[in-house]
Amino acid sequence: MKFDTPATTNPIDQLKVIGKPTSRIDGPLKTTGTAPYAYERHDVVPDQVYGYVVGAGIAKGRIASLSVAEAKAVPGVLAVVTHETAGKLGKGKRNAAPLLGGPEIAHYHQAVALVVAESFEQARAAANLVRVEYRKTDGAFDLARAKDAMGDSAEHKKEDSVVGDFAAAFAAAPVKLDETYSTPDETHAMMEPHASIAAWQGDRLTVWTSNQMIDWAATDLAETLKMPKEKVRVISPFVGGGFGGKLFLRADTLLAALGARAAGRPVKVALPRPMMANNTTHRPATIQRVRIGATADGRITAIAHESWSGNLPDGKPETATDQTRLLYAGANRLSGTRLAHLDLPEGNAMRAPGEAPGLMVLEIAMDEMAERLKIDPVEFRILNDTQVDPEKPERPFSQRQLVQCLRTGAERFGWSKRSAEPARMREGRWLVGIGMAAAFRNNLLTKSAARVRLDKRGVVTVETDMTDIGTGSYTIIAQTAAEMMGVGLDRVVVRLGDSSFPASAGSGGQWGANNSTAGVYAACVKLREAVAQKLGFNSADAQFADGQVGSGNRRVPLAQAAGDGELTAEDGIEYGDLDKKAQQSTFGAHFVEVGVDAATAEIRVRRMLAVCAAGRILNPLSARSQVIGAMTMGVGAALMEELAVDTRGGFFVNHDLASYEVPVHADIPHQEVIFLDETDPMSSPMKAKGVGELGLCGVGAAIANAVYNATGVRVRDYPVTLDKLIDRMPPIG
Ligand code: MOS
Repeated sequence: MKFDTPATTNPIDQLKVIGKPTSRIDGPLKTTGTAPYAYERHDVVPDQVYGYVVGAGIAKGRIASLSVAEAKAVPGVLAVVTHETAGKLGKGKRNAAPLLGGPEIAHYHQAVALVVAESFEQARAAANLVRVEYRKTDGAFDLARAKDAMGDSAEHKKEDSVVGDFAAAFAAAPVKLDETYSTPDETHAMMEPHASIAAWQGDRLTVWTSNQMIDWAATDLAETLKMPKEKVRVISPFVGGGFGGKLFLRADTLLAALGARAAGRPVKVALPRPMMANNTTHRPATIQRVRIGATADGRITAIAHESWSGNLPDGKPETATDQTRLLYAGANRLSGTRLAHLDLPEGNAMRAPGEAPGLMVLEIAMDEMAERLKIDPVEFRILNDTQVDPEKPERPFSQRQLVQCLRTGAERFGWSKRSAEPARMREGRWLVGIGMAAAFRNNLLTKSAARVRLDKRGVVTVETDMTDIGTGSYTIIAQTAAEMMGVGLDRVVVRLGDSSFPASAGSGGQWGANNSTAGVYAACVKLREAVAQKLGFNSADAQFADGQVGSGNRRVPLAQAAGDGELTAEDGIEYGDLDKKAQQSTFGAHFVEVGVDAATAEIRVRRMLAVCAAGRILNPLSARSQVIGAMTMGVGAALMEELAVDTRGGFFVNHDLASYEVPVHADIPHQEVIFLDETDPMSSPMKAKGVGELGLCGVGAAIANAVYNATGVRVRDYPVTLDKLIDRMPPIG
């Protein structure tokens, strides 16, 4: 189905199932521990053995010598895979460095060997006996130094986005800000590690894994192994968190396949937690400079946002300036990303790549600017709202309720109680502050397909390679099929995460909900036509409701259409250029209250509110869970998370959950989420968008702004930890 004109009324608009708060249909499997996650699939294939990964002990250089003899002599060891034995491998185009290193080493903990043994313990013990000697070369690991070395070179600015004359307008502005901020490297730290079981049957390969993007995984695995994609099957029905860390083929999957081939047995591999931060991808650190110029009454006349980040030679920059191109008005604009070569592990997507660290910075800058202008921060944002793309004023937004989010949030949170002057609110030992930030994240359209089947019991089965990474995909897909076919949720079966099913949009970039359900919608339109034809209805006026198909006075049970054999339909959604004609984005506002201990500078988040405008909310219950999860991640980003870089050794030092800090329950207060009523007919027949990343965007800045409001101390380098406050705290009175 081609979607190239705005949606009109369709069966989804009935909202009998869609739009209702609905508990996860996969919830019982998860709460009873019976949802099959990759590493636990003992039953899918017999004779499984264990692989253990050896990671490189240097960040850059070459393997000088490699000896596996001792490892092979360990009882139970079946095979050792290294670059010397793996044969020639291709390189999946989505990986910046080979997943199996050697002889060249691209980054610390890049896999250099897999030891396969009968037991996990044998494999792990033998892995310690793989002898690798390296010849180290110097690498670049320090972003601040790399930034200084880049200087003001024009080479790095050639892709800047420039509108009007920023320099002249900024120079002429009566009120201005020019500040530099930083965000650290972060790791996804999802609960389930990267894990795969691989089994060969002749020249066919099946992997049970944990991956957000089944079609990318199958494509890249086939390319890397230089085999036809049709002979690769990737199965990932449950994913224990991804956050972008499982968007791509990773070493566990490739090495399990190579290990299984070498050992002649199915092999399972999980990355041990301490290997995840350096072996896989991470959110790269940024240094960001923001300049804003405004008239004395608060209208932005000049805005510039530049971001520096680093990556391996084939890696990309963190696109931290994207939101600044679209969020606020202002005639003179400049934005750009500067990419430094660093030899740290690959930087890549982590939840709201670009916008998450970009808004952590832009929205502090907006708070600082409001203060300089002596304008309320909420009003300052409202004053600079735009209903069109500020770089291309002929392009409207399809929907833009930023102002409504800001006003609703201010009202519900009690913003008027805030003291504009910082360090004025005190409750016992706590200095209390309130802060806010705008939220913004684009809505991305990607084709997505599904197959639907109707059986003679009247059960509708949906099959698509869409994944559920803890987000609720199973449930919203079931809701979509139930709404379209006029049946209850108990009559719908959803099967996900299998490359033998039609290719979906997958889970990423908060595009999963809208696109995958739109694909199911398209397949259901086809199934409705098949049913109508079978039952002798005109498909244009057949009604599907209560398990029946009807028109005029005639009603027939839906199941009857499959009486003499299952009906199957397959289709997908494909998009025209609606997203070129109008900018599709999601909007929100975050409000936070913090307490900062007057003596110790300990920071506690006390209240959080998010207001979101993101098209139709398909399932308010799972959408709320998405947003509160994202808000929690925002607390981590603001106050805790930081991969510490060893700038001599070239690796992330705190590569486990003992030393990489994330929020726990005790860190998180009551969280409130409000969804504004919205449908976006430009987004798809579902009229939905996504909230999974919007919920994170801006949270960090709202917290940093609240800490400033509490203490009068402005911290521009995340995370905002007490050591950055304590020497600058107001005197204890
Ligand atoms: Mo998201 S970082 O595209 O999984």
